[in-house]
Amino acid sequence: MSTILQLTDATIKFGGLTAVNKVSFNLQKGDLFGLIGPNGAGKTTCFNLITGVYKPTSGSIVFNGKEISGTPSNKIASLGICRTFQNIRLFPALSVLENVVVGAYLRHKTGLGSALAYLPSAIAETEALRAEAFALLQVVDLDDVAHVRSADLPYGKQRRLEIARAMATQPSLLLLDEPAAGMNPQEKDDLARVVRRIRDEFEKTVLLIEHDMRFVMGLCERIVVLDHGEEIAQGPPEAIRSNPKVIEAYLGEAV
Ligand SMILES: Nc1ncnc2c1ncn2[C@@H]1O[C@H](COP(=O)(O)OP(=O)(O)OP(=O)(O)O)[C@@H](O)[C@H]1O
Ligand SMILES: [Mg+2]
Repeated sequence: MSTILQLTDATIKFGGLTAVNKVSFNLQKGDLFGLIGPNGAGKTTCFNLITGVYKPTSGSIVFNGKEISGTPSNKIASLGICRTFQNIRLFPALSVLENVVVGAYLRHKTGLGSALAYLPSAIAETEALRAEAFALLQVVDLDDVAHVRSADLPYGKQRRLEIARAMATQPSLLLLDEPAAGMNPQEKDDLARVVRRIRDEFEKTVLLIEHDMRFVMGLCERIVVLDHGEEIAQGPPEAIRSNPKVIEAYLGEAV
């Protein structure tokens, strides 16, 4: 096993608020890792630190042995970290397939702006790119709706499409921000299967934020818990479930 991501005392302050306070955790290659905690705990902010949206006030973030804190987002993406967003960010007027083609295209370009500027040629690009995108749609079970406008997809499928688009950038580390939010139980089960497959077959490392404890505990092998920006626990689901601090701050009662 080798370490892919290492946060050491990662901290960010927004004015008087310390949104993330000395958070440390390590991800090994192939981990399926959960990040949980109450609203406002600092989970999305951790993703923003890892993906270079914000530079930590202090502490370090090392990806594949390289310090990445302070590195611009597009550079971090090109190193192999890709994320999905808590609020879905698709191109609503484009088809499902085209949304994934854009992801694949981003791999060759430096940012969304240039991808958009080149969009017509990106879409017209070789069959290879489209075939690759279609294969990813099969992974997330959306191949049957490849030509539907993404805005016309039900919510659960839009979330799976975001994952396919992120996969198209060929990341080694995939960050999913509340991928199961708003899904019904059946959609959540489907999603869990997709995420497991991505890790097992595509050998990705996955870090995910989620509030649904059944989903997280059933899927993740290790979990870190934040509360008010601070890490209050870390360990396998069984230990987290019965941890008194976690129960008090978040779970309310043992789950
Ligand atoms: N750019 C910013 N400027 C000021 N405060 C911010 C900024 N980004 C996040 N915060 C604050 O940092 C804290 C943590 O926010 P964050 O979005 O990381 O929470 P979260 O754990 O993802 O919560 P949720 O489960 O509701 O998504 C919140 O108090 C939030 O208001
Ligand atoms: Mg959040």
